[in-house]
Amino acid sequence: MENKRYGHFDDQQREYVITDPRTPWPWINYLGNEDFFSLISNTAGGYSFYKDAKFRRITRYRYNNVPMDNGGRYFYINDGQAVWSPGWKPMKTPLDFYECRHGMGYTRITGRKNGVEASVLFFVPLKTWAEVQKLTLTNQSQEVKTLKLFSFEEWCLWNAATDMENFQRNFSTGEVEIEGSTIYHKTEYRERRNHYAYYHVNAEIQGFDTDRETFVGLYNEFSNPDAVMEGRPRNSHAHGWSPIASHYIEVTLQPGESKDLIFLLGYVENEQDKKFSAPQVINKDKAHATIEKLNTTEKVDMAFAQLCDYWDRLLDIYHVSTGNPKLDRMVNIWNQYQCMVTFNFSRSASFFESGVGRGMGFRDSNQDLVGFVHQIPPRARERIIDIASTQFPDGGCYHQYQPLTKRGNNDIGGGFNDDPCWLIFGTVAYIKETGDFSILDEMVPFDNQPGSEVTLFEHLKVSMDHVINNLGPHLLPLIGRADWNDCLNLNCFSWDPNESFQTTENKSEGSKAESLMIAGLFVVTGKQYVELCRKLGKDAEADRMQQAVDAMIAAVKKDGWDGEWYLRAYDYFGRKIGSNECEEAKIFIESQGWCTMAEIGAEDGMVGKALDSCKKYLECEHGMVLNNPAFTKYIYEYGEISSYPEGYKENAGIFCHNNPWVIIGETLAGRGNDAWSHYAKILPSYVEEKYQTLHKVEPYVNCQMVAGKDAFRPGEGKNSWLTGTAAWMWLTVSQYILGIKPQYDGLQIDPCLPETAKDYTIQRRFRDAEYTITIHPNGSQKGVKQVVVDGKAIEGNTIPYAAGKHIVEVTM
Ligand code: BGC
Repeated sequence: MENKRYGHFDDQQREYVITDPRTPWPWINYLGNEDFFSLISNTAGGYSFYKDAKFRRITRYRYNNVPMDNGGRYFYINDGQAVWSPGWKPMKTPLDFYECRHGMGYTRITGRKNGVEASVLFFVPLKTWAEVQKLTLTNQSQEVKTLKLFSFEEWCLWNAATDMENFQRNFSTGEVEIEGSTIYHKTEYRERRNHYAYYHVNAEIQGFDTDRETFVGLYNEFSNPDAVMEGRPRNSHAHGWSPIASHYIEVTLQPGESKDLIFLLGYVENEQDKKFSAPQVINKDKAHATIEKLNTTEKVDMAFAQLCDYWDRLLDIYHVSTGNPKLDRMVNIWNQYQCMVTFNFSRSASFFESGVGRGMGFRDSNQDLVGFVHQIPPRARERIIDIASTQFPDGGCYHQYQPLTKRGNNDIGGGFNDDPCWLIFGTVAYIKETGDFSILDEMVPFDNQPGSEVTLFEHLKVSMDHVINNLGPHLLPLIGRADWNDCLNLNCFSWDPNESFQTTENKSEGSKAESLMIAGLFVVTGKQYVELCRKLGKDAEADRMQQAVDAMIAAVKKDGWDGEWYLRAYDYFGRKIGSNECEEAKIFIESQGWCTMAEIGAEDGMVGKALDSCKKYLECEHGMVLNNPAFTKYIYEYGEISSYPEGYKENAGIFCHNNPWVIIGETLAGRGNDAWSHYAKILPSYVEEKYQTLHKVEPYVNCQMVAGKDAFRPGEGKNSWLTGTAAWMWLTVSQYILGIKPQYDGLQIDPCLPETAKDYTIQRRFRDAEYTITIHPNGSQKGVKQVVVDGKAIEGNTIPYAAGKHIVEVTM
């Protein structure tokens, strides 16, 4: 397949520049840092919401539509000869120039047509509940230009789920108010809602529309709305049906002249007793205040500069210079950026996640934490407490919770037996980064029940115990509904397509289904827990857990090893899964990753053999597949995993999330060349260079899944942006490849590199210290010979923490 390129990196600006709007799939970006968020594609498609993509959806979006990516914040320019949009869509009029620059929390889209340039900067200012759209119109021709400009947003009636289904009600409830240049959306405000949205422009308007059918025309599309095509707004006032917001502005530009218009899409919540300023009239004070803060070019430019500063500061915390731009740009910019986005959105809203299905995952959020804890530790702290509050007294937990309510999600419930271990993983990462042990004394409830509070440390303890108390016949952890692989449903036994694989347990009484993935995870997090207990002086507890860890290691060696690799699981009946004895799916990646990270049986050569087997059976051109050979038929005893066609998703897709597990295993074994070659295969900047057309999805971030070697189109990516891959890629490269590991007492330096690695320098802020660390690999893959801190050689390879600036030289 020919590799057409649709864009390129601009590292100086920290942007990805898209130069052709017809990308193989919409390439999106995220706006917002806290509370108010937007998704925006390279043609300005997407939507906004406040905190929760399901319950507070502000604008409407149509997933899985024809044409693709329908609905967004659109501008239409009618210049008398042509009608066009700066982002190409929705008009799709061929442009003389098009460019979309996705940056850190902003997107700038520029289009030119018939001598006029329209450039729109989209961003959400810090601490602001509004999206700014700064439109700059420039007359680049020699003649006077008279333009008819229309803006366009379509309101969602708040609940994104019912908005798409409850039309018998929806088509009668829509309400708006118009005041000057601001259109207010106040559906349901008269009753139980105390929030409204608005769309404002800082200029006098010559007309407006708020009723979609009047503006578009019932049988038209966004690409030929009646009002725009005729160059005449209707001044419509929505009563029910589908309310929208469109401003109409006549703009005259002299040759060379440029004009800014600031559009603002905002959200407001009012106190119950301050909802109205007159009967039926909403209280607009807060909207006025936000508008006042952002109603001039100067104010908006200042807010934008603050956002850029904020990102400078975040990205300054860890910065590497290796001389390899493809590595540096991922480590310094895009990987860290993606981690922040996954922190904010978990798995809720992307162009593959509709925002109505999934809230925050217990397991997902703990993993995401390792990707952003160095950037915003206070919010990591808050997140840990929120997550732990959804745990049950026996250590089990809700698999997901809703961000708006922070309550466990009853629809999905619990029973995913790996979940509890992740709380240790997340909490330890937080303490090692910050040195803040006080979090362990926080009083945290179970299932959010007041009165049930115990310390966070107690939550960690019951988490470990949950595994110990749920062992199967081989003394390996019982899997429950599933472990990390949500699709390995060993107690499901479903022939009914209306049943959910993940929540159905048709047969779980007496189940012998055990997981080697949880076994490895338990050993890794168990060792972390033991180290923490020792640090806290809780030696008896440390001893107790060490015994449990040792027992688990013994169980894996005895019943979890297949000869060349670790087994994956035992099924309900106690039969092997992921064994050479199996007909299909003889080997799985998850247990290889976790058991090699746990270094189980390293002394007996098990780790080396398992890593070699990954190379032999799982690796392909685009990364390592999840299992091999792929399932070719549905297996009633295994559940969803075997429901996928060969090479996709959990059935032998390259599930990028778990490749780093094996890569970390490689680094612990000191195999730097292998670690690097696996890493580079799924590193977006390497994929970008070779496979833009094939890969399809955004080339600047990782996606959850790339079609595997058994797929119809190997190398095709799906489910971009919101994936644990981001955090795992970050952990792998920052701590295990480049080798800077936060520890309780300092920074441990332990890189594992390809032989070809050159000298590199890392700037690392760590608590109140700032380290400049230069590593001299000298052709070695692993092993630090000497660490010199501020001119003095230290014992070992952990730089003891001390506030202030330090220069470190490391010789391998
Ligand atoms: C989920 C994870 C899960 C993974 C593998 C992802 O979509 O967010 O929680 O571990 O799939 O099934």
